[in-house]
Amino acid sequence: MHRTKAILRAALVLYLGAATLTAGAQPGHPARHPAGASSAGERDWWKNAVIYEIYPRSFQDSNGDGIGDLNGITARLDYLKKLGIDAIWLTPCYPSPQVDFGYDISDYKNIDPKYGTLDDFDRLVAEAGKRHIRILMDLVMNHTSDQHPWFLQSRSSRVNPYSDWYMWRDGKGETATDQGAPPNNWESLFGHSAWQWDAATRQYYYHRFYIQQPDLNWNNPKVHDAFKEIISFWLKRGVAGFRFDAVTALYEDPSLADEEILKDKDGQPLVNAYGDPVLNDSKTDNLPSVHVVMQELRAHTDTFSLAAFPGTRVLIGETYLPNVAELAKMYGPAGKPEFHLPMDTQVAFINKLDVAAFRAKLNDVETKIGDNTPLLLFDNHDNPRVQARYGDGVHDLDIQRALAAVLFLSRGAAQFYYGDELGMLTTPPTRKEDVKDPIGITGWPNEKGRDGERTPMQWDASANAGFSRGRPWLPVPPSAAAINVAAESPDPDSLLAWYENVIRLKKTIPAFARGRNTMLDTKNTKVLSWMRKAPGGPPVLVAVNFTAEPQTVSLSVPGFNGKLKTLLKTPGAADPDSLKAIQLGPFGVFVGKILQR
Ligand code: GLC
Ligand code: CA
Repeated sequence: MHRTKAILRAALVLYLGAATLTAGAQPGHPARHPAGASSAGERDWWKNAVIYEIYPRSFQDSNGDGIGDLNGITARLDYLKKLGIDAIWLTPCYPSPQVDFGYDISDYKNIDPKYGTLDDFDRLVAEAGKRHIRILMDLVMNHTSDQHPWFLQSRSSRVNPYSDWYMWRDGKGETATDQGAPPNNWESLFGHSAWQWDAATRQYYYHRFYIQQPDLNWNNPKVHDAFKEIISFWLKRGVAGFRFDAVTALYEDPSLADEEILKDKDGQPLVNAYGDPVLNDSKTDNLPSVHVVMQELRAHTDTFSLAAFPGTRVLIGETYLPNVAELAKMYGPAGKPEFHLPMDTQVAFINKLDVAAFRAKLNDVETKIGDNTPLLLFDNHDNPRVQARYGDGVHDLDIQRALAAVLFLSRGAAQFYYGDELGMLTTPPTRKEDVKDPIGITGWPNEKGRDGERTPMQWDASANAGFSRGRPWLPVPPSAAAINVAAESPDPDSLLAWYENVIRLKKTIPAFARGRNTMLDTKNTKVLSWMRKAPGGPPVLVAVNFTAEPQTVSLSVPGFNGKLKTLLKTPGAADPDSLKAIQLGPFGVFVGKILQR
């Protein structure tokens, strides 16, 4: 089973508002940045944004406790600036019992002491702002920690003012002495029943994720108000937006009817990695009311684009959806916008180098989401890394170059995950007793959990990879000896250098920054080729070989006679001088400008 579909959902990106803030206007807010006031470029920064996901626990430890922290991130901002990113999506760093490593929040308006303080956070925002990097927070609205004061109140009695902030239901067939069965067959995405019996209230509560993550009741208007206040709190601190976590899980069907059990082609019930039946999720996922909440939260967020904070605050969605039609809805109907950037999991998790599938899915976001902007990605902290999902074990470096070309040279915002730029490997635990992510314990050995893609950032070849002077919370894999920043930065043929180059093209060539995508040579099943063109400028072209054999493509672009100027190519490849004969090595990439004459 791919974890991909089963696990995840939402996001939101913030605009620092750095641009026009008077320096020192509010403590912790970034100073005016050199690009100046709210130009169209500033307003639209997110439409061609390069967004870098940091899992704070694993990026850089500054105090030797083996856990990454905010001051560690601040210390590495120059590296990120050189890489060319526009924004950091910071996964949750709020106070948390850390059952789900921060996705179980016990206080939405503070920083977990393991990661630092609010002052450290303000300093991170300010220092990032100086480098023109925006900070986006991760906001978990589907559930809180079971240690959050709201839930402690809620479970304290059935008549508490917070009792209807969560999803409490009676057991089936419950009596004065018997708790009865769970209200229905709904399952947690993290294994087993989604209902947890609570002895004090003598009711069950619903949890889409861990038992320690009770779902909030979004039918209660007070929950909406609480989150609007939380959003305001962080936007006022200068964040540029949010990633909304697990947002498609906000509502459940009020009928509480059982979900259908899915069957294989022989009519046998399908069973997941936890040994539970696989359910259709139509009663627990992507209910229409999600859109109503999104319109409300977007309208609230948009009020912060004015006055003291010009520039767009951006909402990113963790939107695992079945098709482009559902993705299109996440942008909102005319006049009622929702997400700026719901993540496109259609492209991300094709999970095989299938040219036709890539062409079709990339075309979908070019033609089926109106004037909206796609958010492309391959990786995040919940899935095996790109190398594990797309590598062939022989040409992995070239495959990662090829996918980086797809990611950064297609139209839209592009998101990647710390360490992808180095080619960091997924390194799952080999023994159950070493597993940190609870789903890896519940699901062992079918599901080893997400530790493998959360190993410490690899800065250098020293014992702890430059991540920590203490004992890292997850082991540094042996591959860090060769795959690290210190080894790759001076090497012009490294994956890191390739990332810097494709990001530079995305940011500096107008056709890549804003040109539409047009697929070329659309019957070819081995090479994916596309053209980008912005008004007034020359078209640019990308050709990516999706096979392990050399390929030659012959392309034509009406109105152009075929001369090319190379912008970037796989190390060692020849420069084609015409569109008619572009030679590509195994998984080779060619990027060029098409000349008029
Ligand atoms: C999202 C996060 C994931 C987390 C889950 C529950 O899917 O990306 O890491 O476990 O939500 O909050
Ligand atoms: Ca630390």
